[in-house]
Amino acid sequence: MSPGNTKQFSQIAIVGVGQVGGAAAYALILGSVASELLLVDVKVDLRDGQVRDLSDVAYSVNGGTRVRAATHHEAGQCDIVVITAGSRWSIGETNIQHMHRNVSIMRSVVGAMRPFRSDAIVLVVSNPVDLLTSIAQEISGLPKSQVLGSGTFLDSVRLRGLLADKTGVAASSIQVPVVGVHGDSQVVVWSAATINGMPINKSLPPDTLQHADLADECKNRSESIIRAKGATPFGISSVVSSICSSILLDRGDVEPISHFQPEFGCCFSLPVILGRKGIIRVIGVPLDSHEQADITQSAKRLRDVVERIQKDH
Ligand SMILES: NC(=O)c1ccc[n+]([C@@H]2O[C@H](COP(=O)([O-])OP(=O)(O)OC[C@H]3O[C@@H](n4cnc5c(N)ncnc54)[C@H](O)[C@@H]3O)[C@@H](O)[C@H]2O)c1
Ligand SMILES: *[C@@H]1O[C@H](CO)[C@@H](O)[C@H](O)[C@H]1NC(C)=O
Ligand SMILES: *[C@@H]1O[C@H](CO)[C@@H](O)[C@H](O)[C@H]1NC(C)=O
Ligand SMILES: *[C@@H]1O[C@H](CO)[C@@H](O)[C@H](O)[C@H]1NC(C)=O
Repeated sequence: MSPGNTKQFSQIAIVGVGQVGGAAAYALILGSVASELLLVDVKVDLRDGQVRDLSDVAYSVNGGTRVRAATHHEAGQCDIVVITAGSRWSIGETNIQHMHRNVSIMRSVVGAMRPFRSDAIVLVVSNPVDLLTSIAQEISGLPKSQVLGSGTFLDSVRLRGLLADKTGVAASSIQVPVVGVHGDSQVVVWSAATINGMPINKSLPPDTLQHADLADECKNRSESIIRAKGATPFGISSVVSSICSSILLDRGDVEPISHFQPEFGCCFSLPVILGRKGIIRVIGVPLDSHEQADITQSAKRLRDVVERIQKDH
């Protein structure tokens, strides 16, 4: 580090360095977000290959992040642990069987990291993200505010981009929260959508936006990317980098992030203030009765799944 650089020594671990974990590491190095990146994977050859390839990136970036291989236990001692471990669908496997396999991966990853450093922040990216964040939160032994999931952050970024393309307004001047359980039941809070703070339906000529089509396009986007190229590494990796720098720099950014909802007993996304301690505070969103009902229904469904899984273990 250069003299006079007061940035503190910081470590981020990435657990599961496949497509998404590898791309997340790349984004974190280009952004010089942390001093050191620790890469963890059960596939040792893949992990070591990623360490070498990404070290080449680190050597070429000013302010160089150190990249090294690590164990699960070492990962639990970092400032931030990003969990991107996952499993490919096997032929003949049902959806339920695959979900259980995903849950056992999360249990084994979190189990192998315990006990965590007391101020570690865990960021779950693996899907189904809200279910796996709920599981990680329960078994981590960390305070609830320190276990988060990427949730609907990427969906909010995406929808903002779609609106920018439609209206010619810069994405940075558009706010449109997507909240709830990531996936089919996520909810766009159109009543809170603004252009530079002005309600969006008052700022645009009538019928500029087809709300339902835009919400669908936002939901369908991941699937169409996976159909075309087999994974969606770049979008999410940029979101991971942004969440990690909000945390390490204690920036107070407001974003929709999956976290524990005491009223529902599971994790899903609502806008929060992000800082070094994780979720600093929830920011209320004005929901109309439809939006509220949709969120309540999908949260209850998620809670049922979480409870059923707990009974099985
Ligand atoms: N939340 C989002 O918005 C979002 C977006 C894109 C992808 N994802 C999710 O990210 C995850 C990763 O996707 P991918 O395309 O990189 O998959 P991938 O198969 O390329 O990588 C997963 C990696 O996890 C490793 N792994 C498995 N079990 C492990 C364990 N116990 N410990 C350490 N590593 C382990 C595997 O060896 C593999 O290298 C998936 O769950 C995917 O659905 C989420
Ligand atoms: C299981 O995880 C994979 C990736 O890790 C994800 O693509 C898939 O949607 C998940 N499936 C279920 C049913 O949880
Ligand atoms: C704009 O949206 C708000 C909140 O959804 C609604 O109350 C209002 O009637 C809408 N205005 C117009 C002009 O459509
Ligand atoms: C999204 O997918 C659904 C179901 O697969 C389909 O009915 C809908 O037309 C798609 N919407 C867009 C905008 O692509």
